Amino acid sequence: MPELLESYGNVKIMEGESGQIPYYISLTPELTEDERRVISDSRDFVGDYNQIKAELDKIHTSIGKEEYLREYLQQRLIERNVTPENLEYVTSSIMDELFLGYGRLGPLMRDEQLEEIMVNGVNTPVFVVHRRHGMCITNLTYDSHGPLEDFIHWLSNYAGRELNEANPLLDAHMPDGSRANVAIAPAAPYGPAVTIRKFKRVPFTVLDLIEFGSLSPELAAFLWVCVEGFGLSPIDIIIAGGAGSGKTTLMNALAMFIPKTERVVTVEDTLELNFEFIDNWVPMEASPSVITPEHRLSMHSLLKNSLRMRPDRVIVGEVRGSEAETLFVAMDIGLDGSMGTLHANNARETTIRLMDEPMNVPLRMMPLLNLIVVTNRIFDRKKGMLRRVTQVSEVSGIEGDVVQLGDIFYHDLNNDVIKRTDYPILLTERIAKECGITKKRLNTELLIREKVLKYMMAKGIRGHNDVLKFFHLYHQDPKLILSELKEGGSLNNIA
Ligand SMILES: Nc1ncnc2c1ncn2[C@@H]1O[C@H](COP(=O)(O)OP(=O)(O)OP(=O)(O)O)[C@@H](O)[C@H]1O
Ligand SMILES: [Mg+2]
Repeated sequence: MPELLESYGNVKIMEGESGQIPYYISLTPELTEDERRVISDSRDFVGDYNQIKAELDKIHTSIGKEEYLREYLQQRLIERNVTPENLEYVTSSIMDELFLGYGRLGPLMRDEQLEEIMVNGVNTPVFVVHRRHGMCITNLTYDSHGPLEDFIHWLSNYAGRELNEANPLLDAHMPDGSRANVAIAPAAPYGPAVTIRKFKRVPFTVLDLIEFGSLSPELAAFLWVCVEGFGLSPIDIIIAGGAGSGKTTLMNALAMFIPKTERVVTVEDTLELNFEFIDNWVPMEASPSVITPEHRLSMHSLLKNSLRMRPDRVIVGEVRGSEAETLFVAMDIGLDGSMGTLHANNARETTIRLMDEPMNVPLRMMPLLNLIVVTNRIFDRKKGMLRRVTQVSEVSGIEGDVVQLGDIFYHDLNNDVIKRTDYPILLTERIAKECGITKKRLNTELLIREKVLKYMMAKGIRGHNDVLKFFHLYHQDPKLILSELKEGGSLNNIA
């Protein structure tokens, strides 16, 4: 009998049989005859559909829209005697079918524990990637073409793009911020494939990443100083890593260290970064849904334009082409603290990819980049899928035609810990000099910040807003935080 691995809400996850991947079961509660009818005739039940749509159009956030709908539907469902235990399920089913466009994927879209949802066609199970159990096979299937085509039609409609034989591929942004990729025939000859990278409504913070072991407190403290740069001299960083290794997540978490007073412009192909906590933030998107594929904006032109928007720093979601050089130009003209993510497996490969076609960053510009942080997905037999920062390398200059790199942190695979190497961190000298402090003072600051992070961990300060408030408070009035640490007797005791 396969073992039950986990159960929550309407979800059960069972161990896979004989070495197979786990089985993710989305349970349907037992519904009364009347409840089933309400769901199947939901369009009649809702009645004034257009009027509700008009109300929804007035609300601008997807969370706001969902709240409005939920309240509206629940009132009517209570009048229809829907049982309290099934109220949530019936409400969600109607929302998924009529308003949100998710159809039968609704329960998966709402499960925050899922990273990805994969539909491979009709009569074949839907797969998911679960945060704790990795790839799972689900009990959900599209057993006829109609509902899957409806879903895809809705996606392309929402993205404002046609999907047909001539244009069989689509990258779309969903209302909740998730990113969907659709491939239909002839590109996907065996049926439409839909891959959804789910948007995490509440992004992971640096504290979450420390808790998972993706960062160590020492490394997080170092990155804190690098990104914040005392408001004077933040450093330029590329986050590199393989597909799905956690680059965007780390970038989002590090952005919480950006001083509150700065103006930040982000440039992405499809919006993913979520810097709502920065007051003066301008997100820019190269493939917005209102523009046809032929008229897409290039990342390069967007980034060039962003330099005229008087940013304090620019951040590029994924550096792929000629925008790379523009990012280096930004670093060159003093937009310190500029950052980008890039697909590469290690620091050396990052420098090679940056200088090769199609990025073409000239060798002489490479030292403008200060730091390369590499993320990786590692599979551990006992712990399952892990995401770790596996290498942090500083760019120390060029010799001949080779970029000089120095590894300052690495991931010790045997013990699963992130360690400092013996290599001296040259960057600290630069930061200290530009911020007008001694190197000793800077090293003390690094130790203090490590303790602050450990204090936050120990105190369970984990909520998104609380973490942010704590960082801002530290930037405004470090003495206050330090006295809090001392009063708790914790400053010296936190080992
Ligand atoms: N350190 C982490 N620990 C646990 N889960 C993580 C971590 N980092 C990212 N994730 C999760 O992994 C998934 C992929 O993360 P993310 O989008 O950041 O990767 P990426 O490297 O930017 O991917 P891509 O190459 O597709 O752009 C997301 O669901 C995210 O929530
Ligand atoms: Mg990414």
